Amino acid sequence: MRRYFVGGNWKCNNTIAQTQSLINTVINKLVFDANKVEVAVAPIFLHVPWVQANIQKNVQVAVQNSSLTKMGAYTGEISVEHVKDLGIPWVILGHSERRQYYGESNEIVGKKTRLALDHQLSVMACVGEKLAERESGNTTQVIQAQLEAIKKELTTEQWSKVVVAYEPVWAIGTGKTASPEQAQDVHAFIRGWLRSQLGTQVEQATRIIYGGSVTEKNAADLIKQQDLDGFLVGGAALKPGFADIVAAAN
Ligand code: G3H
Repeated sequence: MRRYFVGGNWKCNNTIAQTQSLINTVINKLVFDANKVEVAVAPIFLHVPWVQANIQKNVQVAVQNSSLTKMGAYTGEISVEHVKDLGIPWVILGHSERRQYYGESNEIVGKKTRLALDHQLSVMACVGEKLAERESGNTTQVIQAQLEAIKKELTTEQWSKVVVAYEPVWAIGTGKTASPEQAQDVHAFIRGWLRSQLGTQVEQATRIIYGGSVTEKNAADLIKQQDLDGFLVGGAALKPGFADIVAAAN
């Protein structure tokens, strides 16, 4: 019932020549059934217009962040109005690198998510625990608090434009993927939370994707898990193996 979703988060990588090469040699050669899997890639802001103009029609463009504020005197920010104005459909919010390095609290992520949805963008909303939180048995509490801060800001209807990305911080960029069982346990917890807080319609319709050292080697096993609806890929999204990750979801 749920269409798979594969996002490529290119983070703060790639010169313009590298982005052009990635688009021409990997992204524009992807072959997949868009009825089965939705694919989106997120370049740095400066590359977005070029990517948008040169990417194959089946692949959508996302941005990696948006401002907490609307347009105005906020030097250095890019607002959801700018993102919408360019016709970009997706924004990644609450990524752990934003939380860790740029001080984004649960509250900020909730408010940014609301602002993006109020401007008709779709949101990949990231949640996930740090290693110490997992080791002290607090994984579900951490994720619940992250989800609650988003729920506080949204109407139930707005969840139809949210994809939840579960990204354990200890698995990001470390080569240490969550096992399929570890991922499934947390995805099942998130789905249960969606049911209890927002009802069965939201529970069944919401895509919950996994991110954290996903590669072409582990994607096929991860995607077999019942509550795993796709991936948010970092490092491997910069390489030809991204095509195999998309194929695993197709
Ligand atoms: O947004 C993507 C995640 O941070 C995963 O990154 O695949 O390099 O571990 P990674």
